[in-house]
Amino acid sequence: MAVDIEEAVKDWVDSPPHVYVKLKKTLEDPRSSFKEFSSIIGNDPALSARLLKIVNSAFYGLESEVETVTHALGIIGTEQLTQLVLATSVTKQFSGIPENLVSMDLFWRHSIACGVTAKIIADWIGERNLENYYLAGMLHDIGSLIIFKKFPVEAEKVLTRCRDKKECLFDVEREIFGSSHAKVGGKLLEGWGLPMSLCEPVYFHHRPNKAKDYPLVTKIIHVADSIVDEMNLGSSGEAIANSVSPKILDELGFDELPIVKFENQITDQYYSAMSVFL
Ligand SMILES: [Fe+2]
Ligand SMILES: [Fe+2]
Repeated sequence: MAVDIEEAVKDWVDSPPHVYVKLKKTLEDPRSSFKEFSSIIGNDPALSARLLKIVNSAFYGLESEVETVTHALGIIGTEQLTQLVLATSVTKQFSGIPENLVSMDLFWRHSIACGVTAKIIADWIGERNLENYYLAGMLHDIGSLIIFKKFPVEAEKVLTRCRDKKECLFDVEREIFGSSHAKVGGKLLEGWGLPMSLCEPVYFHHRPNKAKDYPLVTKIIHVADSIVDEMNLGSSGEAIANSVSPKILDELGFDELPIVKFENQITDQYYSAMSVFL
């Protein structure tokens, strides 16, 4: 199959989520103020409403009700809010993907479940900046959407083979395309100018030992991906769960895949995140 899946990234790199890009520019300008952030977000009423819903949900667990975007900025900060804008915008960005390959609803459920699970594991380990874990989980398979959209016929063959032979998508893609959804996704996010703390876990979520600068978040995404596949939360088209090596589990402080340990927490946060992100 002579298709270059990495080429497909070009079509998407030029159209990053619009509001996110503006916020990021504002974030990088030391002279910018809260007021500028709120007015960029305020220009998109649907986005403002979604953000307030997220900030007031169990996802944040705040005690008092947040009623305005400015108030939300004061509580969770400009950087975190910018990341949330990205999380909520990408689901809108990728519409029109052929539903015969993977249902979009199931795909985002898988992504949200992985984000929530990564955040729970990171919290248990004592990490800060949990949004980075959520976002890396939410975006880890985004390369697949580009492949589905650009090469639906080839993608269907790959998915069918994975299902029939119970093979790992990443391995079959590498055999057939010479590249993978992990690499395509990583390139997309890098092209959008996202920090390497997000790009690296996406690049290496199937081979976490390759991560150089962000091994912890990469390993956590790898483990979270496997947990949500075992728990059957959504689907990215993958026929089998990642098999996680005992070494990686040990490095994170587990003696087995921590499904039982986190199951209740994952289920609670998954349903609450779905109600606000989808
Ligand atoms: Fe994947
Ligand atoms: Fe996945």
